Amino acid sequence: MINSPKIIDLPKIEDPRGNLSFIEELKHIPFKIERTYWIYDVPGGETRGGHAFKEQQELIIALSGSFDVVVYNGKEEQIFSLNRSYYGLYLPAGLWRQMQNFSTNSLALVISSTHYDDEDYIYDYNEYINFRNQYAK
Ligand code: TYD
Repeated sequence: MINSPKIIDLPKIEDPRGNLSFIEELKHIPFKIERTYWIYDVPGGETRGGHAFKEQQELIIALSGSFDVVVYNGKEEQIFSLNRSYYGLYLPAGLWRQMQNFSTNSLALVISSTHYDDEDYIYDYNEYINFRNQYAK
């Protein structure tokens, strides 16, 4: 059974000198961190993602600016608009997702439960639907 995506409210230490947020693995997020990567300098109108992961769980944060994450589970689509650096979007494995509507100078941080592995990607939409049907049984 595929779990649902959810917004995780991260700690925010407010301070007149500037705010601070943080993440601890297995505490604020339900996985061990094996990799982080970030997406930046996205030209207007471009999209990223547009695929699913078989194993990778992830947390996506708009560290700066804003963008939308469109998540599809084979049945329903949800759109999450991220625009705060203290909100993380947790995505369990097995979801189709695309990132779009990047604002100028936006910075997307992705915290991943796996090392990079091309074999973990499903790029073909029909293959995803087959995978999803198997997974749901
Ligand atoms: P990809 O995950 O396909 O980007 P997006 O889903 O945002 O379109 O990755 C783009 C390229 O970067 C691809 O050639 C693989 C490479 N890459 C790595 O080498 N390591 C990584 O951790 C990631 C995320 C991508």
